[in-house]
Order: sequence, then C-alpha cells, then structure tokens
Amino acid sequence: MADNKRTLKFKIYRHDPQDPSSEPHYDTFEVQDRPYLSVYLAMEEIQQKQDQSLYYDICCRSNVCGSCAVNVNGQPKLACKTQMKDLPDEVIVEPLRYFDHIKDVAVDKGRWFMEMSHRLKGWMHTDKPFNEKIENIQKEDDRIPVYEAERCIECGICIEACGAAHHDPEYLGSAGMNRAYRFIIDTRDVRALDEFAEQLFTESGVFGCEAMLGCRNFCPKEIPLPYHFGILRRRILGRILLGKK
Ligand code: SF4
Ligand code: FES
Repeated sequence: MADNKRTLKFKIYRHDPQDPSSEPHYDTFEVQDRPYLSVYLAMEEIQQKQDQSLYYDICCRSNVCGSCAVNVNGQPKLACKTQMKDLPDEVIVEPLRYFDHIKDVAVDKGRWFMEMSHRLKGWMHTDKPFNEKIENIQKEDDRIPVYEAERCIECGICIEACGAAHHDPEYLGSAGMNRAYRFIIDTRDVRALDEFAEQLFTESGVFGCEAMLGCRNFCPKEIPLPYHFGILRRRILGRILLGKK
C-alpha cells in the first residue's frame, strides 16, 4: 500500500552531451507520495514545479508507445507504468545505457529500431497484388501467433536487459529476433528461411543468445520471447543440420 505521507527522493541523471560545459551528475528532488504516483508523474511534477530543464521522453503515458523506458534503481522499466508504491522512498532514475544518449534520461531508440528493421527487411514480402477491396484473411491459428509477436512496443527494455547485446553491438537481441519471428511465421510472407540467413544464422543472430533471460524478466508486455527464440532456433537448426525448408 502506498504511504501517502512518504517523502520520496529522486536522484536523476543529468547530462547534455551537446553542451561542452555539461558534466554528468545527479540532481536530487523531493516529491510527496500520492496514490497512483508513477515514476513518470513524479518526473512531470519535478519538471513543472522544480526544474523545467529536466529532459525525459514521454508520449502515450499508458504503456503502449515504449518511449518512456528508463533505468529505475538499476532496472529497465517503463516510467509511466512503474508505480512508486512498489518502490522504496529513494529512487535513482537513469537513461538506458545501451542506446545513444540524447539528454538527461532520454535516449535515441528510434535509430536502433530503424536499423534493425532495415537489416531484417522487416516488412511484408508478398507476391499478391494489393487490392484494397479484398481483405487478405488469415486463419485464426495463423494470425494469433503473429499478433502475439506484434505486441512489441519497441521500448528497448529487452535490449537494455540483455548481457549479450551489451557485449556485441551487432547482436539483434530479443526485439530483433521477435521481429524476424513475426515475419517468418506469417503465412502471408513469401520469404524462405534462407533469406534471413545472413542476419539470423550467426553469432549476432540466434546463436548470440546466452540465455540470461533478462528479456523475459523485464519485457513490460510479457511477450514470450524465449519461446519465440526457441521456435526460430529449432527451425534454423533444422535447416542447417537436416536441410529442412
Ligand atoms: S520485446 Fe518487449 S521489451 Fe523488447 S522492445 Fe518489445 S516490448 Fe520492449
Ligand atoms: S509513455 Fe508510452 S509507454 Fe510510457
């Protein structure tokens, strides 16, 4: 239960890499606890009432756009979803370390997701001519697994939580593997598995996973990433070892 009398301390990472006079440091702010106070709402209050220069990313405020991911006490989380009632009186808010830093706790995830999508050619490949009057209907059993993978909100938390991704900047990580899986299982996509070989049949693809399961532990949408990984690996090993299509 939230103790509304709590005075919360926020130690927030500050740095503007564009400003040569800016030195990385932490600023500490106090916010009074209240019901339903999230890390995002606390940062908004700090920005509005204490320091207008505080820079963070926010968009939907409701767990659907992925933009607000930060490290809270060392763990990657969505600031808008993370409730203060579940945290101690003192929290440290830092940017995700994996991605290019923009300012304070904001990072550039868009570039990484765009490059990943280009590497995988992450869009539908079909030889059917597009006709807006005819729906391309899938059987339920075919579309439900696609929807499950499509729930990814590109928050970058699985990449931040992945030791392998921090060791190998080329590693596609769970978000990349989930994107590849989404098109490989889609019955409307005509690509053969071999067309993903250069990106997936490698140490920076499915063989780069070290099974530390940070992705599973922190994905805010609880996408079954290790399961999707397992299916990809089984199919790829079947292709490499047994010549299966
Ligand atoms: S798979 Fe989960 S943790 Fe990774 S980017 Fe998508 S929603 Fe975020
Ligand atoms: S602001 Fe969109 S997920 Fe948090």
